[in-house]
Amino acid sequence: MAIEIIATGRALPSHRISNAQIAEKIDTTDEWIRSHTGIGFRYIADAQTATSDLALLAARNALSLALENGSVQEQSLEELALTLDMIIVGTITPDYYGTPSTACLVQHELGALHAGALDINAACSGFIYGLENAAGLLSLNQERKRALVIGADILTKIVDWEDRGTCILFGDGAGAVLVEKREQGEERRGLLRTILRADGSGAESLIIRRGGSRNPYQRGEIVDKPPYVQMDGRAVYNFAVKAVTEIIEALLACESIGIDAVRWIVPHQANARIVAAAGKRLGIPAEKFFLNIENYANTSSASIPIALDELNRREEIKRGDIIITVGFGGGLTYGGNLIKW
Ligand code: UT7
Repeated sequence: MAIEIIATGRALPSHRISNAQIAEKIDTTDEWIRSHTGIGFRYIADAQTATSDLALLAARNALSLALENGSVQEQSLEELALTLDMIIVGTITPDYYGTPSTACLVQHELGALHAGALDINAACSGFIYGLENAAGLLSLNQERKRALVIGADILTKIVDWEDRGTCILFGDGAGAVLVEKREQGEERRGLLRTILRADGSGAESLIIRRGGSRNPYQRGEIVDKPPYVQMDGRAVYNFAVKAVTEIIEALLACESIGIDAVRWIVPHQANARIVAAAGKRLGIPAEKFFLNIENYANTSSASIPIALDELNRREEIKRGDIIITVGFGGGLTYGGNLIKW
């Protein structure tokens, strides 16, 4: 049995803003943001757009690509949606906190009447966790064949726009992959290996303190801003460099392959300096890492599937290529997938 990604899609809000535009509102500069993060621009959702809207669009784009590239036999998006067995959305910015899940909203809008649906909260590692969960659910039950795995977040609605250390980092977006369980041929392919790890001792370094059961809003309290992300940037940075290094090493070791066998490493796009530092520690040339952070900033769980979609549509990933994804985020969580495309 092989769990293969057969199509990809992405969706971004239409409004794009530059570092210079942010610098008009807060005490920062394009030069600081670029030199400390590699970020140049980000897309920002408008007041009417919620996470499920972007997730739905990315999902539709992935299904449309599957219809176009002939990797499915169904004739229409509606017909294809009916064949989905599972919809998983990695997000920490659901349309509604608690319930309903964003995945259920997507399931309804797609008309995926036979699909189960659930959200995964693994912050920026959400897509990596989601892909492994989809693979597990497809493997467990003979009847299940297809799953949509989506990473979608609108972090710009829950950052503190007065905190220049965090608000400059994030952008909004969604990425989706259509996953299918296929017969294994002579060669192993598809999702070959996933490593999922967590270090809850770092929970406080990336946290939304208000609104949950630990610290709910109180009756009569005047709330003048939405719940927002607080981050110890240095702590997350140090953790991230270690996490990226550890996961790449572990994935290569598990499969007994060298870095030369890998076509792309697709890292979570949080900070270009994190990727460069990990690459340097591992002695991996910078060209192996796919980076698009300049355009999108950190889109949280969407960053890896957006990157996969870019590569896929530019035909920079070919069948048989080995891809490593690697990510880290709030929780703290981290992990990676090794995929033979
Ligand atoms: O998906 C996971 C999410 N999070 C991350 O990946 C974040 C990981 N951490 C980072 O990427 C980096 O720690 C940051 C980019 C957030 C910060 O970079 P840094 O090099 O660690 O800066 P710093 O926090 O140590 O601050 C250095 C200086 C400070 O000024 P002083 O105290 O040296 O005078 C900050 O006030 O830079 C200042 N600073 C800024 N200056 C201009 C912080 N943010 C800004 C800003 N513009 N936006």
